[in-house]
Amino acid sequence: MELLIETAGESHGPMLSAIVAGMPAGSPVSEAYINARLKARQGGAGASPRQRTERDEVHFTAGVRDGRTTGNPIALQIKNRDKTYESLPPVHTPRPGHADLAGALNRGITDARDVLERSSARETAARVAGCAIAAEFLEALGIHVLGHTATIHGIEVHGDPDADLEAARARRDESELHALGDADAQAEAVARIAEAKKAGDTLGGIVEVVATGVPAGLGGHERPATKLSTGLGAALMGVQAVKGVEIGLGFGSTTVLGSELHDVIVPGESGVPGRGSNNAGGIEGGMSNGEPIVLRAAMKPLATLRQALPSVDLRTGEAAPARVERSDVTAVPRLAIVAEAVVAFELARHVRRRFGGAHLDEVRAAIEAHRARIRDVLG
Ligand SMILES: Cc1cc2nc3c(=O)[nH]c(=O)nc-3n(C[C@H](O)[C@H](O)[C@H](O)COP(=O)(O)O)c2cc1C
Repeated sequence: MELLIETAGESHGPMLSAIVAGMPAGSPVSEAYINARLKARQGGAGASPRQRTERDEVHFTAGVRDGRTTGNPIALQIKNRDKTYESLPPVHTPRPGHADLAGALNRGITDARDVLERSSARETAARVAGCAIAAEFLEALGIHVLGHTATIHGIEVHGDPDADLEAARARRDESELHALGDADAQAEAVARIAEAKKAGDTLGGIVEVVATGVPAGLGGHERPATKLSTGLGAALMGVQAVKGVEIGLGFGSTTVLGSELHDVIVPGESGVPGRGSNNAGGIEGGMSNGEPIVLRAAMKPLATLRQALPSVDLRTGEAAPARVERSDVTAVPRLAIVAEAVVAFELARHVRRRFGGAHLDEVRAAIEAHRARIRDVLG
């Protein structure tokens, strides 16, 4: 069973839509749960005034009844409050770092308006809503996923999540950086964002996503396409402005010895082996190994600068400053929410592939049977 998501909609069009197909019947779907994720996606330090204009709310038009999935494809919509697409001016001076010029070259056009309306991260509202359906499915199976901010422009605001990710989520949601680190570091990062805003500049940073309760053995080592790491990497790299992804110690693993890096295998309580550490980030050979999954995604500073960068007028070929659109100073806190969503979706996709099932109860039973078999054989 393949779980799929597709979104449609422009930044200033009438609405955003998503279709999610491949969910089992009987999985809980709560509008309040999804709207809370949408609110978090719009919040955080560095978000543009537009985030305060839009108050996103999900509306289901198919596949959900009485707060449960029916097993049919799910369709959802989020209305845009700012729906001025038809009256917005053409964009002839592309922003360096955005999709404008590459999109104009892709289509052979001099007005990048249609490109930027779709490349805009407003799309992530529909994606977050669709992925939240998968996150609720995972939670019903005891799998929890949390995204949080690790750094802003090099300032470490990372804090370790509690073992109980739901408690950490409450702490994360209270932080305007969506971070778990200490208050002084967070205050320094907030001040750095304010400085950048004053200067008309933008900032990047790193987010971390942790997933607990993931059954061991998800994914497969056999082919690149079967690897959990391939799907998770693609899901995160598919998010706007993400320029790098790490699993576990990632790039940091290149500067330590193998003897320091690898997570020793130790006898476990139930007889199933445990691990001495989790530098692998819960994935070995493209498969979950039973430890928490830990991923990081690097976000570049945003391309829309109030102090516009040099560009060229695509009609004349003459130098001209890049167009300025309403924009965030940093979207790293918002990325924490989007990254959490797409990781949850990818994990759910692998759960569907591995365990199938037409109803949530069947999926739950299949996971239990898998765990029981591992205990029998290895325990
Ligand atoms: C949550 C989120 C919010 C974003 N907000 C902005 C923004 O306000 N201004 C901007 O220029 N880019 C923003 N971006 C990034 C652009 O969408 C992205 O840079 C652009 O689509 C080009 O794609 P690329 O950076 O992956 O090459 C945001 C990205 C995310 C994930």
